[in-house]
Amino acid sequence: MESQALKALALEAAHDAGAMLKENFGGNHAFQEKTSYADLVTEFDHRSEEIIVKKIQKRFPDHDILTEEGRTRVENSPYRWIIDPVDGTTNYAHGFPIFCVAIGLEHQSELQLGVVYLPTLNELFVAERGQGAWLNSERIRVSTIDRLAQGLLIGSSPHDRNLLELNLKLFDRFVRASHNVLRVGSAAAALCYLAAGRVDGYWGLVLQPWDLAAASLILREAGGVATNFKNEPINIYGREIAASNGKIHGEMLKILNDAMNT
Ligand code: IPD
Ligand code: CA
Ligand code: CA
Repeated sequence: MESQALKALALEAAHDAGAMLKENFGGNHAFQEKTSYADLVTEFDHRSEEIIVKKIQKRFPDHDILTEEGRTRVENSPYRWIIDPVDGTTNYAHGFPIFCVAIGLEHQSELQLGVVYLPTLNELFVAERGQGAWLNSERIRVSTIDRLAQGLLIGSSPHDRNLLELNLKLFDRFVRASHNVLRVGSAAAALCYLAAGRVDGYWGLVLQPWDLAAASLILREAGGVATNFKNEPINIYGREIAASNGKIHGEMLKILNDAMNT
C-alpha cells in the first residue's frame, strides 16, 4: 500500500475535521456525560468522527477502524485506523483552545503513521515510522534537559475521579522535583508538545489507544521515550504511559513507582 496515499488521506481527514471544529469553537457547548460527570462528549466529537470515518471508508473500505465515539469497524484488515475525533473535549466544551484531532494508523499491529492537528493553533504534527517527526514544515526533536530538577512536565488529567488521590500525589511529587507541572487536558497534545521539546516529560493514567496511537509515534520519531511504569515499551492498549525526552526517564519512573507503592 502506497504510504503517500495513506498519509494524504490522514492529512485531509484531520484538516477537514479540524476546520469543522474550529468553525464551531467558542463559548460553552452542550455536552453529554459518558463514564462519569467529568467524561464529556459533544455533538462536535460525533461530527468530527463522522467526517474522518467517512473519508477512510470511501477510500479504503476494507480497513479496520477503531474510534472513541462508536464508529469502530472490524474487517480483519492488516490496517487499523485509530481515531480520537477530539482529544481535549473538556477544553473544547468550555471554549479553551487546546484540543486536537488524532489519527493513527497501524499496519500488522505496528504504528506506521500519526497525525495530530490542533486547529485553533494551526499546529499539525505528523510522523511516519522511520521518517522523523514534523510540526508544520519543521522537523522536531525532544529537549536535551537531563535533570528532572530542570524539567517542565505535563501531568495526567484522567476523568475517573477514583484516581484523583493517586494523581494528586504524583502531581505533588513531580512539582517538588521539577520546575513545574502543567495540565493541558489532551494527552495527544501533551505528547506532541513533548516531541517538540516544549516540555520534557508527561505521565498518563487510564488512557485509551486513541489517546496514544498517533502521538506516541510522533514522540518516538522525535527521539522521545514512551514506556509503561515498569519501563517496558509502550503498548497503546495498555492504559498507562510514562513519556520523556529519554534523559529524565529514570527519574520519572522512580517517582511514579514510589508514589504507586507508598
Ligand atoms: C482525555 C484527554 C485527557 C486525558 C483523559 C482522556 P478526551 O481525552 O486526553 O488529557 O487525561 O484520560 O480521556 O476525553 O478529551 O478525548
Ligand atoms: Ca482522548
Ligand atoms: Ca475524545
